[in-house]
Parts: sequence; C-alpha cells; structure tokens
Amino acid sequence: MDINIGDIVLGDVALAHLPHLKQSLLLIITKPDGYGNLLGLLLNAHQPDSNSPWKIRMSDGEADIPLNASISVSYPYIIHKTSCRAIQGKVKKEFLDYILRSFVKFSADVHFEALSPGDSFAVPPSGKVLDGKDLANMIDASLDMWLTSGRFNDEFEEKLAVHLGMKYALTTNSGSSANLLAISSLTSHQLGERKLKDGDEVITVAAGFPTTVSPLIQNRLVPVFVDIELGTYNIDVSQIEEAISKKTKALFVAHTLGNPFNLDRVMELCDKYNLWLIEDNCDAFGSTYQNRQTGTFGHISTMSFYPAHHITMGEGGAVVTNDSSLYRILMSFRDWGRDCWCRPGKDNSCSKRFGWKLGSLPEGYDHKYIYSHIGYNLKITDWQAAIGLSQLEKLPLFTKRRRENFRLLYKGLQAFEDYFILPRATERSNPSWFGFPLTVKKNKIFSKIDIVNFLEDSRIGTRQLFAGNMLRQPAFIQTPLRLRIRNSPLLNSQRLSGKHYRMLPNSDTVMKNTFWIGLWPGINRNAILSVLGRFDDFIKSRKADV
Ligand SMILES: Cc1ncc(COP(=O)(O)O)c(C=O)c1O
Repeated sequence: MDINIGDIVLGDVALAHLPHLKQSLLLIITKPDGYGNLLGLLLNAHQPDSNSPWKIRMSDGEADIPLNASISVSYPYIIHKTSCRAIQGKVKKEFLDYILRSFVKFSADVHFEALSPGDSFAVPPSGKVLDGKDLANMIDASLDMWLTSGRFNDEFEEKLAVHLGMKYALTTNSGSSANLLAISSLTSHQLGERKLKDGDEVITVAAGFPTTVSPLIQNRLVPVFVDIELGTYNIDVSQIEEAISKKTKALFVAHTLGNPFNLDRVMELCDKYNLWLIEDNCDAFGSTYQNRQTGTFGHISTMSFYPAHHITMGEGGAVVTNDSSLYRILMSFRDWGRDCWCRPGKDNSCSKRFGWKLGSLPEGYDHKYIYSHIGYNLKITDWQAAIGLSQLEKLPLFTKRRRENFRLLYKGLQAFEDYFILPRATERSNPSWFGFPLTVKKNKIFSKIDIVNFLEDSRIGTRQLFAGNMLRQPAFIQTPLRLRIRNSPLLNSQRLSGKHYRMLPNSDTVMKNTFWIGLWPGINRNAILSVLGRFDDFIKSRKADV
C-alpha cells in the first residue's frame, strides 16, 4: 500500500489503556522511514476539549470523506505500514497545512516550557516578556516562507491602528527609523508651503534619546533645544514660546520614560504658531493623557518595538497618523521613495499600473518603478510582525504590571525622599512608565555614582536618562552642527561652552544626578521588594559611615 502524508488510514493501534490492538483512524503526518514506520495522529470521535489548543476539531468538508472527529497533535503515534489496513481518504491541503503547523507549534511549546530560564536573582532595567504564543507566531511566519512584509504585517498595521483609534499605521524596522521617516516625510514637495526646508527650526529637548534629534540634522533642519523639568523629565512648556522664531515649523519631543508631556499646552502652541507636532511615543505605548492614548495627538507619532519597549518584535517600530496625504507620503519614503502603493508581492492596486505620466518619464512607464521622493527601505519582515501581533494582545497585561511595579517602587522609595527626587506623573496623565527615574538630591552621604555602583554590584541594573545633556556628547563636539538653545541666535555645536550648557540647567542636572531602574513586566513583586531592601541597606550603611 502506498501511504502518503495527509492520508487517513485505518490501522491496528495499541492504546495505553487497552490490553489488545484496536482498529482506529489515523491521519498520517510523515513518510515511512527506512523500517517502514510512520507517524500518525489519532482521529477520535470525541468533541475537542476546549481547554487544549492542541486538540483540533475536524469537520465535514476538511477531508474527501465525511468525518466528524478531533485530532490531538500532542499525541503523535508510531505505526508500522504493515499495520495499516486501508486508506480511507485524504485531508484537504489547507487542513493538512493547519494540522502540520499545529504539530510544529506544539513541539515548539514543549521546547519553550522545558528550556525557559529558571529563577536567578537579577533585576535588569528592561527586557522582553515572550511566551509560547510569540514562538508559535514566529514559526507560523517561518512556515509561510514569505520573508518580507506580508500577511502578518498587514494584520499588525491594521490592529495597531485600531488599537490606537487612528486611521493609519505603518511599520518600520526600528523606532529610530520611524523618527527618520516621520521627519523626512515632512520635507515632501507634496506638502507645498507646509513642507520643512533646509534651515527650518524644530523645537526639541537635549535630555532625551539621540535619534529623536538625529533625523532633524540628517534633514538639514535646525534643532532648537529647550530645557526639561525635573521630576517629570519632560519638555518645560514654559520655555517653548520664547524659543519660537519665524523659522520654527515643528515640535518633536518624546514622552520621557513613558510620562506624557503636557499635551494641552503643546497642542495649544502648535495650533497658535501653525507647527507640526510629531510625538515620539517610542517609550510610552499604553500611556494616556486625559484618558486618550499618547501617540494619537500629533500629526505623526512614532513607536519602537525594541526589546526594552512596551511590546517587542526584536527590532521594529511604527509611524501612525490620521492624515491620508501624510500616510501616502510616509509610505513612499518608507518604500524606496516610490509613487506606487502596492503591498509587497501585489501588482496594480491603482488599476492603471501602465497608465501614468509622471516627471518626464514616458507615458505608461510602470508605476511600480516611478519614484516621487528620495526615499529609504525601512520595512520589516513578517517574522517581526508576527511577534508584534502576539505581543499586542499582551499589552493590557504589560501595562497593568508596569503600573503596579511603579506604585510599589514609589511607595517604598518615599522613605528616601530626603535623598532622591521621585518621579512625578504629568498632570491629567496616567503613564505606563518605561523605567523608574531617580535624581540624587544634594546630600552629604552619597553621589549618583555611589548608588549606581552599589545597585549594579547587587545585580540591579541601572540606566542613564539616555544622552543626558546631548549637547555635551562627542557627536555634537566632533561635527559642526547648527542649533539654537532657547532664544539664542544660531550656534555652532563645536563652539559651545559652559555658558551655553548652563542655558539648560535641568538637562545638566539629569546628566549628573539622574538614573533609572527597571519596572518592566518581567519583574515581579518579590524582585521589587528586594530592590527596595537594597536601597534600605545602602542608605543605612552610608548613614552609619558618617
Ligand atoms: C524616546 C526614544 N525614541 C526613539 C528610540 C529609538 O528606538 P529604536 O531603538 O527602536 O531605534 C528610543 C529607544 O529606546 C527612545 O527611547
């Protein structure tokens, strides 16, 4: 008998609970090996157990014979080909695909459970929380062998937009790419008078992540730095108006460490001065301001899905917008600068692929190869999108845990307010904190370096508030960059001195005295209590030393 994968055979099987062989139906899932053994999955008459994702219901129509059964992919069965009495039918290709995928995913789940790391005391500042569903999604994407952006990406972009209540979301291969894409898109000729031009100014802050500022420089724009507030670590909105000049066209800042900036005031000023607002929402997915999610206020917002962030896809990011023209421009810049908006692997979405006359190209030049912008390729693969999808489902749980961990740390660290400035949520906001920032107050018993070293020695990870005062970074000193600080004239970054840095006193303070510790969802209550215990030990020992 010639038995193939997908055949339904009647075979003699030995079942653990029965003393004798029994004839049963099996779905064959391998070819016979050198000894004639095959792997099959038993078809049971029972209804599927709803608690087990590995028990799959098979209904009429899924095979070429009428069958109503359930298949347990978690119980592969070895049968010799001589024990197969008859081939009764064959399952359809789509159903076979589903069963084989489930079988592979079951094996991956076993691997994940068996090898997931055990408990060891260390409290990293950030990390990813993955489970078997993320692995299963990655495997699903592998089995598709599509490789580039495909069905998982389409679904992720749609679900992300729905989640945020925005019209459009476009994935990018990092948060930094999302920032580059957002700013580049605003230089498009398609925006007419509102496009950003060489020398136009964009208001931002110096105490933040470098790639919020880099795209301004890369697009020959001039960053105008204002200071931040201590405690919230966000843009000091009282300094924005004095920094606005005739050349100011946009405001681009992040919700620092997940704490929303004062969106009421920022939106008011952007309206008043007709400025683009780009929200760097990379560290704040899940945070709300006036009960509305951050990332939904700006003309464009950006996100990061690097492992430290609120959800991950390894490397990844996104831009979101409600503006259909910006969406088309963003897509063009992301996808090589092309004019065509077909998804990878698709043709003729515009229904006139060979009917365009653009630039000085000949009439009917293939729209797929018409470029309306000097663009990039910033797309993601379907593996990234597949993990993004399963992570997105966990966002509410992750947000809850981040908030609980914040509350627990806050409560415990209140005892040390003589030594630290504790973080302060912006009024009317509910942050999903990225980390727990602490600024060491002037005191006689320790400095930031002392506490950071102590925590690191105790395997409690610490991080800086990113670039500190960015203007002091080598990148700004080694390259002549145009910039302004608050209401200063145009400055050259290589000629900055103490008096300039002192125009941003809080950014300097953050550089000298601020650090943050972790509260990500992989940290449990016991770990937080241990962290608090180590703070207590440190302060007690320092007090005893004086
Ligand atoms: C505020 C902010 N913007 C942008 C980024 C860049 O994101 P990515 O690492 O995905 O490039 C980060 C990274 O942590 C960030 O904190």
